[in-house]
Amino acid sequence: MHADRSAPLSLLAACMLLLPVACDEGGDGPAPTASLVEPDDPPVADVGLAAATSPQAAKKPNGKKLFEDETFDGNGRTCRTCHTSSTGALSPEQVQDAFECDDDGPLFRALDSDDRLGESYDRLLTDATVLIDIPLPANWSLAADPSATHATFARGVPTTNNVPSLDTIFMVDGRFTTLQDQANGAIHAHAEPGREPTFAELTAIAEFQQTNKFFSNNKLKHWANGGPAPTLPPGTTPAQIRGREWFVPSETGICGHCHAGPMLNETSEFLLAPLPPGSRFFTAFVSELNKAGNPVQSFVVDNGDGTTTVIDSPDPGRALVTGDPAEANFFRIPTVWGAKDTAPYFHDNSAADLDELMAHYSDYFQIVGLPPLSMDERADIIAYMQLL
Ligand code: HEC
Ligand code: HEC
Repeated sequence: MHADRSAPLSLLAACMLLLPVACDEGGDGPAPTASLVEPDDPPVADVGLAAATSPQAAKKPNGKKLFEDETFDGNGRTCRTCHTSSTGALSPEQVQDAFECDDDGPLFRALDSDDRLGESYDRLLTDATVLIDIPLPANWSLAADPSATHATFARGVPTTNNVPSLDTIFMVDGRFTTLQDQANGAIHAHAEPGREPTFAELTAIAEFQQTNKFFSNNKLKHWANGGPAPTLPPGTTPAQIRGREWFVPSETGICGHCHAGPMLNETSEFLLAPLPPGSRFFTAFVSELNKAGNPVQSFVVDNGDGTTTVIDSPDPGRALVTGDPAEANFFRIPTVWGAKDTAPYFHDNSAADLDELMAHYSDYFQIVGLPPLSMDERADIIAYMQLL
């Protein structure tokens, strides 16, 4: 009898006690925001960050307020709804907490529901993925709906830590190269805005994401502020020291074949693939293996010479940005810095934690003709990733 009551009571208690925390993100409505915009500010144009520091410093919009509170007269979502203050990302546990506290909160909008009609949110609650509409290149079409101009994919929320200051390739497919374009895209993709953001607002959001709170680690913060580039920490325990070897550039440092350079996000000369060192897009067989179980779509590519190429994939990633079928299922190689805090992993959130990530790589290794990862090797690599 006691057991029967304890679950709902503790849930209720959690919601009441944690209300300000658990419902702040993903659960709450927007806080009222003062008007930060000059009514006649020009609409967003595709210009670089340089414009940020120019004339209007005096009436500069407040980036923190815009990121955390501004809804652009839309569906109630802000950047903070998905990029939580604890990790910059969004986990299934955070989605579930938000749902317990307010199942009508801004995270739960029809455009990210299972059927896009707002009936249920099972995918979002289980995988913490949102739905992303990607325009199809001119010579691509969907076999199931030849007139479609866009295809839709379930993707996880990458962290806003580190990347805004230390990368220029944004999104899992690299489709944005400035933070202003990214923010403009995010507002239109997620927030159903009732008004257009101004370029000054987009710049303020960009700059806010480059402030000191948006780093997972002091080394990265110092580098962004002009200090030396981060290097691989030496490790202290035997497991960490063994784990480090997987990232040291060499033939046998296999993680480092793709996670090289200061950000651990580019290929090295040891990768046995027809890609130059420093490449940023490749496949780790995440779409190929489709452990997330996302619906596989059939894409027809017109090669322009009377032939077509058919690509069956749950998410072809980079190929939809470049139009090049040879890049089907390529994704941006993400940094491993800070990854210990931002489970789940991969563009589709298919690896729930570091153990599942290692299980995935053990499968990947075997597909490319390498031995599987033993449990000891997995534990070493995880021990080392705890230092990054
Ligand atoms: C509904 C959830 C949601 C909201 C709201 C949201 N984002 Fe995101 N954000 C995502 C997802 C999902 C991606 C990755 C999508 C992809 O790669 O196709 C992403 C990617 C990003 C990235 C790129 C990170 C990287 O590693 O490349 C940045 C930066 C970012 N968002 C900033 C913002 C800003 C700024 C806002 C507010 C204007 C915002 N986001 C609102 C879900 C959200
Ligand atoms: C052949 C290139 C390649 C190799 C080798 C490789 N990775 Fe990756 N890694 C990638 C790519 C590409 C992604 C993004 C895949 C996706 O989302 O579809 C990725 C994603 C990741 C992520 C997810 C980060 C996130 O934020 O979701 C982690 C962590 C990671 N790799 C760690 C490792 C470790 C540890 C090893 C060695 C066991 C390794 N990688 C080997 C290319 C590689």
